[in-house]
Amino acid sequence: MDQGSVKFDQTHNYPMIVELTNITKSFADSEGGAARKVLDQLEFRLEGGESVAIIGSSGSGKSTLLNIIGTLDLPDTGEVKLFGNSIAGASEAELSHLRSAQIGFIFQLHHLLPQCSVLENVLVPTLALEKSDRSAAADRARKLLKRVGLDGQESKRPAQLSGGERQRVAVVRALINQPKLLLADEPTGALDAENASNLIDLLGELNHEESVAVVMVTHDQALASRMSRVLRVREGRLEIEG
Ligand SMILES: Nc1ncnc2c1ncn2[C@@H]1O[C@H](COP(=O)(O)OP(=O)(O)O)[C@@H](O)[C@H]1O
Ligand SMILES: [Mg+2]
Repeated sequence: MDQGSVKFDQTHNYPMIVELTNITKSFADSEGGAARKVLDQLEFRLEGGESVAIIGSSGSGKSTLLNIIGTLDLPDTGEVKLFGNSIAGASEAELSHLRSAQIGFIFQLHHLLPQCSVLENVLVPTLALEKSDRSAAADRARKLLKRVGLDGQESKRPAQLSGGERQRVAVVRALINQPKLLLADEPTGALDAENASNLIDLLGELNHEESVAVVMVTHDQALASRMSRVLRVREGRLEIEG
């Protein structure tokens, strides 16, 4: 039996959601030259229920950092602890289970399935989990869709929604399994200013209502300042901003 998924299911007693220690990550450049160090001895701590914005110039390593927090990528060196447990030695299956059960992801583009309804899209993450009660998941989906102002839209296809509505569907999909951690990589990047502002309000409210810790990458300093902490990736490390 894979111990990893067992230990990661026991997350409720840990105050620390994320602990990154001495994280270094390099990528080889496209011309095959020397590797470029994107993250350099980076440290990061996130407590349950916190909301943090990560800012930084394009190419500074924001997405790389978010991918490492979300176990979509692994650091070259350093330790990643999620919910009190190191992910060192966890198999890809264990990490996949951890992501499905405990982490919600939102990206710049919503990645909704075009042929599926809003409700079906929202329920996709529940398919990966062996949850006996499918009707409870559908109930929660309807409740969350209503919460984000999408009641009555459950059977529409993504193409029938506005950009802001599609991104709210993506938010509900990210929250459907009641994750402890929500990771958002430029979630407002494809939205106009008003929809972007509304989405940040929504993330802030859900942060409290759902007791979910939020890490949001953005290049918009005004949006970032509405999170409880703002950190800047600079020269491979995180600095407190402002
Ligand atoms: N998979 C990859 N392979 C090679 N280089 C990468 C890869 N991912 C990111 N990089 C490089 O790492 C740097 C940081 O990228 P990224 O984390 O996406 O920056 P940001 O999200 O802050 O714009 C960039 O120079 C980018 O080209
Ligand atoms: Mg990025």
